[in-house]
Amino acid sequence: MEKIVIGSDHAAIEMKSAAIAYLQNYRCEVIDAGAHGLDRVDYPDYAAKVCEAVLRDSKSSGILICGTGIGMSIAANKFRGIRAALCHDAYTAQMARKHNDANILCFGSRSIGLGAMETIIDAWLNADFEGGRHSARIAKIAELETK
Ligand code: RB5
Repeated sequence: MEKIVIGSDHAAIEMKSAAIAYLQNYRCEVIDAGAHGLDRVDYPDYAAKVCEAVLRDSKSSGILICGTGIGMSIAANKFRGIRAALCHDAYTAQMARKHNDANILCFGSRSIGLGAMETIIDAWLNADFEGGRHSARIAKIAELETK
């Protein structure tokens, strides 16, 4: 069973709840890393919670949502071993897994609607890393983390 750790800031609390509800359609374990209210919080704190959880369990993946998804993706990509992809549609979500082996999916509550969110989640969960020539490129990304 796929484990998904999900987090958001205050700007995406409602979309996080909608995403958690939508994920019930899939056989996956969902862990809500917060935030848990509408009080203003700082998105890097929740990016850190989700990234740390994903790095602890290599079989898990993460979803991070903020207003645009930009802050979450920038913060998440600071973690060695995290490949966070900011996706706006099903195509980018599918390719993020197939070619980039992304282990964190990011999107923005203020930049996409609930319908798009569902198609993004569907595409993400139904795609697998293709490996092959893409593995060498992922290895090169890992090398960049040491610079
Ligand atoms: C919060 O207002 C907003 O800046 C945040 O949710 C996110 O969009 C940052 O990238």
